[in-house]
Amino acid sequence: MALLIKNGRIITATDDFVADIHVQGETISAIGTGLEDSAAEVIDASGKYVFPGFIDPHVHIYLPFMGTWSKDTWETASKAALVGGTTTLIEMCCPSRAEQPLEAFELWRSKAEGLAAVDYSFHMAVTKFDDESEAQLREIVSRGIASFKIFLAYPGAFGIDDEELFRTLKLARELGVIVTAHCENATAVAQLQGELLAAGKTGPEFHEPSRPESVEAEGVHHLMTFAELTGAHVYVVHTSCDAAVQAAQAARYRGVNAWIETVIPYLVLDKTYAERPEFEGAKYVMSPPIRDLRNQPILWDAIRNRLISTVATDHAPFDFGDQKTMGADDFTKIPNGIPSVEDRINLLYTHGVVPGKIDLNTFVDAGSTQAAKLFGLYPRKGAIQIGSDADLVIYDPDYRGKISASTQQMDVDYSAFEGWEIQGRPSVVTVRGEVQARDGQFTGTIGRGQFLARQPTHF
Ligand code: URP
Ligand code: ZN
Ligand code: ZN
Repeated sequence: MALLIKNGRIITATDDFVADIHVQGETISAIGTGLEDSAAEVIDASGKYVFPGFIDPHVHIYLPFMGTWSKDTWETASKAALVGGTTTLIEMCCPSRAEQPLEAFELWRSKAEGLAAVDYSFHMAVTKFDDESEAQLREIVSRGIASFKIFLAYPGAFGIDDEELFRTLKLARELGVIVTAHCENATAVAQLQGELLAAGKTGPEFHEPSRPESVEAEGVHHLMTFAELTGAHVYVVHTSCDAAVQAAQAARYRGVNAWIETVIPYLVLDKTYAERPEFEGAKYVMSPPIRDLRNQPILWDAIRNRLISTVATDHAPFDFGDQKTMGADDFTKIPNGIPSVEDRINLLYTHGVVPGKIDLNTFVDAGSTQAAKLFGLYPRKGAIQIGSDADLVIYDPDYRGKISASTQQMDVDYSAFEGWEIQGRPSVVTVRGEVQARDGQFTGTIGRGQFLARQPTHF
């Protein structure tokens, strides 16, 4: 089957031009003006943008965490991603310390197979490092995983100690694997949590003071020290604040190969949301926490000047009704996470491109191309080039609508952005040449998503 997308304004990380795109089978076969194919389905993209499919490099779909499980399946998460313009997901594969990495990797893969409608890969979390897990990690890399994940937080669950950190980074350096990292000082968090609870400060508004900006910045600095010692390439996930960005930037000046991700909640929410009364604030509990408003323009500036490479979601959906309430008497027990895989691109466009905080090329770079480049998917993904997968988002900038839990595809009982207006949304979304979503509706095929085997690129 062929597709012919006519007269769209094609935006990549570097280009901006009006042309037609011809798709033959799963890939882009021609880009030019006046293209014809009488056998092709024609999509009129006049007055619309055509972006490469967006990539979310940080999502949790199957996540046993804090005594419960995150809500989405690969079916619901795929539908949500697609209507929102995201065509590739990279999920964190997060086993407990008790699980064997290879078994966990196969378990996480089995959750996606047959249900994914987007293409997908995993960052393999290293939650324990010993000789046996090292051998299994080598095997997992040979099976197409080119990135690890480590946690400097969540001790006893996913967190590793410094010996494990050092050895993980040494292995990654040898294998050319990039290490994505959650950076917070776990000891400081535990002490602060204890002090706050002892003082009777149990509500969700105390989550942020228990994990202040300095705790995150210290975690970033700690990671960077170990990256410097080992030569490993590192990627700081969900960077929330100026202090953490500065710690990463300082390491880059020293020559550390480090990249920075932020996530959409930090760009549009601030800590007052977690202070909302009647436990409403629990909807906004994630780690690192939503910060003071003064950080927002600094994060936007860092995206604009491309110091921050990627804008992901850290999608981690837990129902308000019976999961967030697990922490009704103790904020440390509120399952951490905010759902946003459906909303990332429309929020980034509405709050970034529309007011001029970032331009269209930066929007594509941060939402798609950088993730493809960093994680071994470029130019198959993240590009509009002949031979690239025909993952395309035809985006209608004239659409006006509202976000609501009542209409979302994500399987979670609230929206952190309830009632928010969006300006623009995907009109047509294709994955490898097939239309998977139109105008807010999933129209594709469950199970069509493919596992993307990746090669290490960080040598
Ligand atoms: O609060 C968060 N971020 N939940 C998901 C787990 C993680 O730390 O990424
Ligand atoms: Zn994290
Ligand atoms: Zn995460």
